[in-house]
Amino acid sequence: MKKLMQAVGGALVALVALAVQAQGYPSHPVTLIVPFAAGGPTDVVARTLAQAMSKSLGQTVIVENKVGAGGTIAANYVAKAQPDGYTIFIHHNGMATATALYRKLPYNPLTDFDYIGQVADVPMTMLARKDFPPEKLQDFVAYIKANREKINLANAGLGAVSQLCGMLFMQAIGTEITTIPFSGTGPAMTALLGGQVDVLCDQTTQTIPQIKAQKVKFYGVTTKQRIQALPDAPTLDEQGLKDFEVVVWHGVYAPKGTPREALEKLNTALRAALKDPPVATKLAELGAQIVSESKQTPAGLQEWLKSEIDKWGPIIRKAGVYAD
Ligand code: MLT
Repeated sequence: MKKLMQAVGGALVALVALAVQAQGYPSHPVTLIVPFAAGGPTDVVARTLAQAMSKSLGQTVIVENKVGAGGTIAANYVAKAQPDGYTIFIHHNGMATATALYRKLPYNPLTDFDYIGQVADVPMTMLARKDFPPEKLQDFVAYIKANREKINLANAGLGAVSQLCGMLFMQAIGTEITTIPFSGTGPAMTALLGGQVDVLCDQTTQTIPQIKAQKVKFYGVTTKQRIQALPDAPTLDEQGLKDFEVVVWHGVYAPKGTPREALEKLNTALRAALKDPPVATKLAELGAQIVSESKQTPAGLQEWLKSEIDKWGPIIRKAGVYAD
């Protein structure tokens, strides 16, 4: 009993200390954890956001890449970090899909985090190395079916959207190919440009410059409608992969128990960043669509995450893909 009282007392003291600290928040730089490699699509969104959020917070937002296990190493790190408002986290659909891919996930996305808000939705693009023979999606599918033992698909590990897109693509064409995991699609893209891997499904926030410079073969976008940033590019759906759709959404989180004042300031900074004209222009050029104001809220992110866990769980379990 005495030990329990001491533990409760200790926890209360820690909470009061956090609340007191939060009053002058932020008094030093905030670290934004990115779960994939530097230079990749999540990193691009994170750095754009960090720069703009720094302006309204009056403190630098430092980006730190903590890679591995499809984003789950970073998520676990943040779930267990000090909830003082100085560690925040950006992640995408992987926050939801990991709950089905990992049967022994060491954190719970619904109970171990506080929510700050959603950021932007990003289409994906189906690519191959520049000298890959097929020119159009139908030939690409036929070529993969005929050469499946020789072809590989790069991704950023189980929990990455590149893995999700690749998995859905293989299901859609009824053919499995070897997958090669990287610490992010930044390094996967380097390998594709160097011809070391064959195929990659990746976000427009990284791929548009490579597509425009014709450094890769490009077979279409993964949205149901064509996108403004690549208006001539056909969708996979319109080319015969009926109902193929993967859209990448991004959310910003903090460890559970972060003081309310810090969460409110972080949300205000996030919303201000998304209204910042250079941010809006840069994201639009890269095919990213800033989410509605109602989604830029803690409740908007929390509801969306729940719905995404419900959506992807059955799809992943049906595919029988597990990391552990
Ligand atoms: C990245 O930033 O490297 C990608 O978002 C990884 C992924 O495919 O999910």
